[in-house]
Amino acid sequence: MEETVPKLPLIIDTDTGSDDAVALLLAAASGLGDVRAVTTVAGNVPVVTGTRNALISLQIAGCVDIPVHPGCERPMTRAPSTAQQVHGHDGMGDVGLPKPLRAAEPQHAVDVLLSYPRWHPGELTLVTLGPLTNIAAALLRDRDLLTRYRHVYCMAGAADMRGNISATAEFNVWADPEAARVVLQAATPDKVTWIGWDVSRTDAVMTPADQLRLERLGTPMATFAHRINRTVNDWARDVTGLPGYDLPDPVTMAVALRPELAIEREQVHVDIALGEETRGQLIIDRRRSAPVPNLTLVRRVSGTGFKQLLFDTCARTPGQASAPDPHPERHR
Ligand code: RIB
Ligand code: CA
Repeated sequence: MEETVPKLPLIIDTDTGSDDAVALLLAAASGLGDVRAVTTVAGNVPVVTGTRNALISLQIAGCVDIPVHPGCERPMTRAPSTAQQVHGHDGMGDVGLPKPLRAAEPQHAVDVLLSYPRWHPGELTLVTLGPLTNIAAALLRDRDLLTRYRHVYCMAGAADMRGNISATAEFNVWADPEAARVVLQAATPDKVTWIGWDVSRTDAVMTPADQLRLERLGTPMATFAHRINRTVNDWARDVTGLPGYDLPDPVTMAVALRPELAIEREQVHVDIALGEETRGQLIIDRRRSAPVPNLTLVRRVSGTGFKQLLFDTCARTPGQASAPDPHPERHR
């Protein structure tokens, strides 16, 4: 008798670029997630574009019933910036995607981030995939917000100080470093886990062989995921020099859905550099005299396990009910 895997109730905050889109497929179509709402924030692309991209991604996953709520249009104090040089002008590889069937919701993202965990205390997992502007704005209205979620996973930072948007900073934290600091000041390691860009640069990178395997699946989700990540593949080749393209948001979502995929973690005190030269760099204090830890920081994931979840999900057609078996070894 195959065990039924309980689905994880999720709220997802995203700046929907091409990797966020794949994370939304994992959340909505792997069979492991129960997406209650998606909130969008300015980041990779302007928030109106990110909202469109989220609606399209959920539609491809066969989940047009999931509400999408637009949020903050710019960082707390910094000038708006995008990563369109990485993901394309529309954030989705400029492949000419059709308009989504569903429209965005009128309720603001910050109101959703505040109200849902009050209605469902301790039940919801929040996964953030973009700059932390919406979360910080919510925290300014409810300092205890993070304690109301079951857990908060953030794709944020680079623990090895090797940056993508600058020599030392990761884009989500660099885009709104003040917001990242507000989140860290409210975080505790039992409630908040950060998965940095360093984690997705390992055996989780989508090599040419992985890309061919994804393309050859030929399903709507696999074809979508492959096509929209052509631009980021070019950027990886020309800028970061990775042996393929990285999928930091899907890696973060995979850890939220299957925490056992995180094979190395540490509890540390983290702050954020705000100066111009080091804007967005993580300040990780490992001294004996360091302040008490405020984060759980994932340092390594199983690239093999991540990719298996990715391929299993993208191989399915929208609306397939059963989740991939997390323990196939038990049934051999
Ligand atoms: O640095 C990687 C992060 O920045 C990812 O969330 C990607 O989507 C971009 O937003
Ligand atoms: Ca993102």
